[in-house]
Amino acid sequence: MNKKILILPGDYIGSEIMAEAVKVLALFKDEGEPIEWTFGHLGGAAYDAEGHPYPPSTQQAARAADAILMGAVGGPKYDALPRELRPERGILGIRKDLGLFANLRPALAYEALSAASSFKPEVIAGLDILILRELTGDIYFGEPRGRRTTADGHAEGYDTMHYSAPEVERIAHVAFQAAQKRSKRLCSVDKENVLETSRLWREVVTRVGAQYPDVALEHMYVDNAAMQLVKRPKQFDVIVTGNIFGDILSDEASMLAGSIGMLPSASLDVNNKGLYEPIHGSAPDIAGQGKANPLATLLSVAMMFKYSFDRADLSDRIEAAVQQVLDQGLRTGDIAQPGEPVIGTVAMGDAVVAALRR
Ligand code: IPM
Ligand code: MG
Repeated sequence: MNKKILILPGDYIGSEIMAEAVKVLALFKDEGEPIEWTFGHLGGAAYDAEGHPYPPSTQQAARAADAILMGAVGGPKYDALPRELRPERGILGIRKDLGLFANLRPALAYEALSAASSFKPEVIAGLDILILRELTGDIYFGEPRGRRTTADGHAEGYDTMHYSAPEVERIAHVAFQAAQKRSKRLCSVDKENVLETSRLWREVVTRVGAQYPDVALEHMYVDNAAMQLVKRPKQFDVIVTGNIFGDILSDEASMLAGSIGMLPSASLDVNNKGLYEPIHGSAPDIAGQGKANPLATLLSVAMMFKYSFDRADLSDRIEAAVQQVLDQGLRTGDIAQPGEPVIGTVAMGDAVVAALRR
């Protein structure tokens, strides 16, 4: 039976980068891989087409798919919509609906791009971090949330941060197991000196850690982690943290890699069904101009083959092809040095496909 992939290009540059991903899928299909794909709407595109950022048609297709490839959602066209119809609700909705609680965000420093990074080469050379972000809990989804009026008549907004022990346990297991496959070091990031949520987080992670005596567990406060990431990033291997801290730290870590245009991500459920997306946004400023860097999307395709289809061989091929085009000096605008020649989205995608054929 063919593996079913649902493609959700989303908004702005989403369809441009996804067109390059489809070229890679088509190549593998030609080689005989049992895959098939269909397209659906998510985010602003879904609101335009069906009146909701995560419409029932997408829900059905997403539940039936073996894996989902997503571009990016959001943008100024949708900023004035009520919150529950905003494109962001689409991505948050699909994460929650499919139980995609484990978000893997690797940050790799490509040697070929070290000049594009704002860090000194020695700080980032050889950097290889995996951030594991819990994705379906925390203040992102906590109730109650809303607006109210205080006793003295001021408008007030409020959100609720919480984690239950089972929620922390399952992401902790994913993190320890990831650490076992890497350097056997895990750093859990929290704000235990202030937050009750974090006190529980730390207790549970420590307890789960007893089952993984081969992994060295360290705890770090999130403010310190933010600082250590730019000071001495290579001290980290696997980082596990909650939803909101992970959102922030993973954007920070992306800068170590040279460009946010290079970083893929995987969001997995308990059975390794996953949604794969570049961690960058929909880039309205360059949309429709063929300038977007498709490499994070192609690396997301690589993660899909590895995690959802158990095909590390195909994943390795894509990663090697990306490495080759970078070594050839091919650059989209976001990773080019001043004065360096720049190619567009389509040329970059074609170059990766050509490298895959070699
Ligand atoms: C991310 C994004 C999303 C998030 C937004 C678009 C809701 O920033 O995937 O990191 O905050 O999770
Ligand atoms: Mg984010």
